[in-house]
Amino acid sequence: MTGKPDPFSVPFGTISCDWMTTARADGGPYVYGGTPEPYGDLTVSPAAHVLHYGSAVFDGLKAYRQTDGSLAVFRLDSHVERMVASAALLRLPAVDPDTLRRMIVDAVEANAAEVPDPPGSLYIRPTLIGTDPDIGAAARPTRSALLYVVNSPVGDYFKGGVRPLTLLVETSIQRTVPQFGMIKCGANYAMALGVTLDSMAGNEAIDQILFATGGDITETGAANFFLADGQRVVTRSLDESFLHGVTRASVIELAQHLGYEVEERTITPDELVDWAERGEAFLSGTAAVLAPVGTIIRDDTTLTVGDGQPGRNTMRLRQALVDIQVGAAPDLFGWRTPVQG
Ligand SMILES: Cc1ncc(COP(=O)(O)O)c(C=O)c1O
Repeated sequence: MTGKPDPFSVPFGTISCDWMTTARADGGPYVYGGTPEPYGDLTVSPAAHVLHYGSAVFDGLKAYRQTDGSLAVFRLDSHVERMVASAALLRLPAVDPDTLRRMIVDAVEANAAEVPDPPGSLYIRPTLIGTDPDIGAAARPTRSALLYVVNSPVGDYFKGGVRPLTLLVETSIQRTVPQFGMIKCGANYAMALGVTLDSMAGNEAIDQILFATGGDITETGAANFFLADGQRVVTRSLDESFLHGVTRASVIELAQHLGYEVEERTITPDELVDWAERGEAFLSGTAAVLAPVGTIIRDDTTLTVGDGQPGRNTMRLRQALVDIQVGAAPDLFGWRTPVQG
């Protein structure tokens, strides 16, 4: 990995590791050769299904250098499970979980020398695209597909590291179509892009848009949303309209373990006023980890959450999560998959 920049000095996800794994399906199961390949461009037909009809899904997870020097992937099985569900919803050729798991582990092991020490990590991006060369296939699923795993050494997702974020509440426009919200497909991000840029225009302080279509707060463009105080953590109950974050599920389990009451329910923008006075807010996500929220803007009102600084409960939960991710605390819930390297 000579000559590559420090991941903390460049935007998240812009460094590519040297190795990747690939598997192709052509009317049958994915064929994975079992050996990582040098990172490089892919060849697909200009008529490929993905380029015309958007048959692309992906996931995002991380491997962490552990305090004892070993390497572990965080919540491998949950991410594989979600990727399998994403592929199924887009009618891409079914992904065999064992094959994908192997491809992820093999890629991480091949790139082990590029994993930065905490607070850095190795971002893992399994991707699946439809490759049928058929521009007439608008209403047909692709039979052939390319599944691959690339890695990127990463630092902070939000510039400036752990700091109180500023969110803008968007109540009128949806992030994506509700029935696809719970999976990770490229189209969801394409749909969210214009709304996000338009809403943020003119205010560089905004870190994320908090989607609250029709007054129902769900998630931001890259993370799930939580409220917290000394007794409770609150987050939106699951439905098809937003991403079922693996970090969200981890925070819920951890919070329960630490004695918090967990409420999964709807959250309204009006409720934020009260929480801002006496509580805390934070985001959860693989990239965001657990990020404190200091300011929430809604129409012409700017709410300062608590004193505008990271809350005590937020930081307690964050530390508990990070300790498990990096092996500084016992793996109480079986979330770490050790890999070579
Ligand atoms: C839209 C959206 N919501 C939520 C999340 C958080 O999900 P996870 O914790 O699985 O990374 C992400 C990140 O992947 C996301 O892109």
